[in-house]
Amino acid sequence: MKKVKTHFKVNGKPVELELEPRRLLVSVLRDDLGLTGAHQGCDTTNCGACTVLVDGKAVKSCTMLGVQANGKEILTIEGLAKEGQLHPIQKAFIEKQGLQCGFSTPGMIMTSCWMLNQNKNLSEDEIKRMLHGNICRCTGYQGIVEAVKYAQEMMKKQEISKQ
Ligand code: FES
Repeated sequence: MKKVKTHFKVNGKPVELELEPRRLLVSVLRDDLGLTGAHQGCDTTNCGACTVLVDGKAVKSCTMLGVQANGKEILTIEGLAKEGQLHPIQKAFIEKQGLQCGFSTPGMIMTSCWMLNQNKNLSEDEIKRMLHGNICRCTGYQGIVEAVKYAQEMMKKQEISKQ
């Protein structure tokens, strides 16, 4: 199959790859770039374990072709920590035990990142609604919701301290 030259940025670094057009972004990230934080839980757009940010929007990377990333900026869980400091959402998932087995965690965190970048005044119901595309098979969502609420408060405090 003819390959297509594809340029994009991942976690701030420019990438240039020759990709078969049929390949999914999740496999490009995992197999070509070694970014294995985006997990493949279903391949049917149900579980959300593969969620990354594409130009700031939460996208299930099993529903996007690698070539569609051309010209875009991708943020994966590996790019979230800055200067050796975990992102507040990562800290909150640890603090509030939102991790469980960890398989769904990168997707949960990236969706939370997208949510909280838009709005840091989410109610518990809004958080639950916005996370509905991310499934945790360990079945306990309370720690996850608590983690997002806690992250929201930490991020608000950080913004106030910067003013
Ligand atoms: S692997 Fe993408 S939604 Fe499940």
